[in-house]
Amino acid sequence: MARFIDELKRTHTCGELRAGDIGKEVVLFGWVQYYRDFGGLRFIDLRDREGITQVVFDPDFPEAHALADQMRHEYSVGIRGVVRDRGMQKSKKTGEMVSAHNANLATGEVEVLVKEAVIFNRAETPPFEIEDETNTNEEKRLQYRYLDLRRPKLQKVFRTRSLINQSVRSYLTGQRFLELETPVLVKYTPGGARNFLVPSRLHTGKFYALAESPQLFKQLYMVAGFDRYFQIVRCFRDEDLRLDRQPEFTQIDVEMSYVNQDDIFRLIEGLVFRVWKDALGIDLLEKYPDGRFPRMRFDDSMRRYGNDKPDLRFGMEHTDLTELTIEHKGGGIPMLAEIAEAYLRGEDRREVPRKIVKAMVVPASAQLSRTETDKLEEYVKGMGAKGLARARVGDDGTWTQSPFAKSITPEFRAAVNQALGAKAGDLLIFQFGSTAMVHTVMANLRLHLGKKLGFIPEFGTKGDYQFLWVVDPPLFEYDEKEDRWVAAHHAFTRPHDECVQYLENDPGRVLCYRYDLVLNGFEIGGGSVRLHDPEVQAKVFRALGISDEDAKAKFGFLLEALRYGAPPHGGIALGMDRLVMLLSGAESIRDVVAFPKTQKGTDLMTDAPNHVTPEQLAELRVRVVDAG
Ligand code: AMO
Repeated sequence: MARFIDELKRTHTCGELRAGDIGKEVVLFGWVQYYRDFGGLRFIDLRDREGITQVVFDPDFPEAHALADQMRHEYSVGIRGVVRDRGMQKSKKTGEMVSAHNANLATGEVEVLVKEAVIFNRAETPPFEIEDETNTNEEKRLQYRYLDLRRPKLQKVFRTRSLINQSVRSYLTGQRFLELETPVLVKYTPGGARNFLVPSRLHTGKFYALAESPQLFKQLYMVAGFDRYFQIVRCFRDEDLRLDRQPEFTQIDVEMSYVNQDDIFRLIEGLVFRVWKDALGIDLLEKYPDGRFPRMRFDDSMRRYGNDKPDLRFGMEHTDLTELTIEHKGGGIPMLAEIAEAYLRGEDRREVPRKIVKAMVVPASAQLSRTETDKLEEYVKGMGAKGLARARVGDDGTWTQSPFAKSITPEFRAAVNQALGAKAGDLLIFQFGSTAMVHTVMANLRLHLGKKLGFIPEFGTKGDYQFLWVVDPPLFEYDEKEDRWVAAHHAFTRPHDECVQYLENDPGRVLCYRYDLVLNGFEIGGGSVRLHDPEVQAKVFRALGISDEDAKAKFGFLLEALRYGAPPHGGIALGMDRLVMLLSGAESIRDVVAFPKTQKGTDLMTDAPNHVTPEQLAELRVRVVDAG
């Protein structure tokens, strides 16, 4: 029988031993982080997930010493030995004897003198060192993810994930929630994110979809009387990937009966407070003494920040100059005059689409050079803007370095300066055109400048957590490409009662009980109070141009269920991966997913997705037309 593991059980982890353990005989298992020879002694830093312990091989124990000679980076080894003080060593600088304690290591006072050792498994030379700081490119790290994950930094992230899971479970079960499962193979329903499709072998030519969220099923749990549901659940979306998006990701998914929007907010605020405490040791009450997060209306968020997930850690708000532009008939600037005239002719009075004029002030203190502002123009062109009009404000309020400087009327200039609160030396930045373009460009520019000017860090939070509920968005958004109204969230969101009257003739005015929870400019959660009234539901479908038949074919099972005494209900889902990304200061969501997909949706370690055999395809009756 093998001595180690069978007889010699691990007594401590590699992060555990302290001065108080001196004299104890211990058994440690771990990986060789570092090895070196010193005057006949062989020193090895042994690492496991809890930390590092220095172990010493002395020629007095020749078998162990000989084994140590063979040990290299990442060998998996076990040792039995006695804990002792690290003692004194000769200083390299002065030659004097000084303490050998290592204050940077939790176990730094002690070492283990090895009496017996084993090599469980040798390791090939790793493609990169298992160190927190690494220059190794991401492709290589993802290819050898199991080694990448050995890095202490990543080990910490996944411990945090585990803590969050426990914290969520304990909080929600304490609030009478039941942890219930929902199917992953579901019926394809249109709308929302694009689904992954799974061909059915038993029903050739038919497909399942991978659930993009448990949405419909959690509502059915409410109809079925479970009252309070939650699930920490994997969701699948075939979307273009970004820094904060993965094709499979985890939601903390919640649904409750007999609640209004504020009840859901209270529950989630409590949950976030609890998670921050458990996972980070941070008491958010210091920042939010009443335990509540602030709220902002969707319209205000768009007007002030150009998007619905504002980063509130810094100012540089946008100012909408559209009304002022109309009032001044473009103020002498031909391009603005065109916009003003279109409004005055009544063409652009429609809610959507329309053109707007927005501006933002970069404070004089930023001291952006001309070359730097030219670079900003390049940056916005990359987002589809035609250019970036700007103006430097002089002592007397005049403008220089601006395409508008010559033609603008003094009245309009004074009015704009006042609206923007512009001071001498400030740089004004303008964007005008279609609402969507102006918002996108100005929102991204604000964030870009916020980072460039050091108002917010490039990544992470530096301990600054700015939460916000974004509320009261419109129920429908206008799809300019399709030239029709589409549901902004999903078709089962409850409109404000006073807006139901507009459903038929003025859908753009209908606001709804949908909400997003935003943290430092990222949407970390979203949900809604659901529609449970069949009459209003029918009106919403009509406004969306969905016929009764269509609705039945697409969501028949839910519509039918709602007719059997469905309780009023609502819910939310938090994006677990995004939460962890923000909590841990990671640069990308990939750093907090154990085995992530690349930006192109591939798994570099397993090489998924891959081709399958013609026989497999034949069984599914699937033919690949063009493998690309
Ligand atoms: P929603 O689509 O807003 O709502 O998703 C909820 C939260 O999930 C996170 N998230 C993602 N995280 C990583 N990668 C992705 N591709 C991704 N997509 C979304 C976000 C988001 O806020 N069923 C509704 C919830 C409800 O109404 O109750 C839903 O899924 O943080």
